[in-house]
Amino acid sequence: MMRSNFSPAEIREDFAIFAKTMRGGNRLVYLDSGATSQKPRQVLDAERNFYENSNAAVHRGAHLLAEEANAAYEGAREILAGFLNAEVNEIVFTKSATESINALAYSFGNSAPGSKFALAPGDRIVVSLLEHHANLIPWQQLAKRTGAELRWFGITPEGRIDESNIDELINDRTKIVAITHQSNVLGTIVPLSNIVAKAHKVGAVVVLDACQSAPHFAIDVKKLDIDFLAFSGHKALGPTGIGILWGRENLLNAMEPFLTGGSMIETVTMTDAKWAAAPKRFEAGVPNMAQAVGLAAAIKYLENLGMDKVAEHEAQLTAYALDKFSNLRGVEVVGPKESKDRGSVISFTMAGIHPHDVGQVLDQYGVAVRTGHHCAWPLMKELGLVGTTRASFYIYNDEADVDVLIESIERAQKYFKV
Ligand code: ALA
Repeated sequence: MMRSNFSPAEIREDFAIFAKTMRGGNRLVYLDSGATSQKPRQVLDAERNFYENSNAAVHRGAHLLAEEANAAYEGAREILAGFLNAEVNEIVFTKSATESINALAYSFGNSAPGSKFALAPGDRIVVSLLEHHANLIPWQQLAKRTGAELRWFGITPEGRIDESNIDELINDRTKIVAITHQSNVLGTIVPLSNIVAKAHKVGAVVVLDACQSAPHFAIDVKKLDIDFLAFSGHKALGPTGIGILWGRENLLNAMEPFLTGGSMIETVTMTDAKWAAAPKRFEAGVPNMAQAVGLAAAIKYLENLGMDKVAEHEAQLTAYALDKFSNLRGVEVVGPKESKDRGSVISFTMAGIHPHDVGQVLDQYGVAVRTGHHCAWPLMKELGLVGTTRASFYIYNDEADVDVLIESIERAQKYFKV
């Protein structure tokens, strides 16, 4: 049953952490969901319930608990498939989005010469300047191992993807286009249709880093027409230790596994092994079962709110915040200053105050933000910054939180006399 009204105050009641008293006796104003989201009791209950009632190693035992654990784990996969409009066999549980992207890069690197995924000197991998290190370094390493060339989209002065040289960037030698859906630093949402069409025209696969998008707005992998996608459970109200790798079934079944071992095989002899079909071929070892079940509860929680309602709420809140920021003197929003085609992440700099100092002052008022380079060094270098202060919003934030943020920024200016 969908909630009829979207009420952050009601939502906060599901999150025990919001009862915590912060420094100075202040309430928690949690504006760091871009780093990790808070967890509702429904997620914690689901994990606890799994351990208390059904705990067993999946895909192995013949007993009741193993049967129940299987049903819970595979049920979680179905929920994730529905969330992305994917097929069930296309959902691979990993430990994190970082592992998902590394799994792809290693798999491509282990492909036999001549396979669709094999890279050779002169082949090209295309990323963008907006990438988080997790969607940059695995591709750098793959390029180094194979002799492929790494190229990237630049950005416009506003912090959007610069597609002006797309025809030069994505050429007949391009094998992989790995791109973020939403910048974790600037909030920029990357328009995909042109990039995907161009990549597919030259036979390249498109890998989408959806860490900052999947928790915040509806994703339909069929409509996006991409080939692979990664996101992390912990940014989507789920537990840590669980990530998603989605891939088209025919592609996953043509790929080499990243990890080998128990449960991912069809046959084994003393000298050889044949891989099981996806998703099992990518899930060696006893998987993070309780975490998968917890993530499924998180997804159900989001679906119960309605992803369109989530997106609408965040867009309104971001527009409200951007408007407030525009009235602050000595504070510069880094990235798109309008709410169109941007997510609920606002990075900013303050004249005369280092981002770490800003973060510390905000903390005195209960405001939790992230400061620094946000795991995006090349982007920071391009922007000529050592770091930013980043506020990121989610379902439990409201305008009162933005007001506390703005007041705290003004207090920081007074404190540092700028
Ligand atoms: N990737 C996370 C962030 O952007 C940790 O903060």
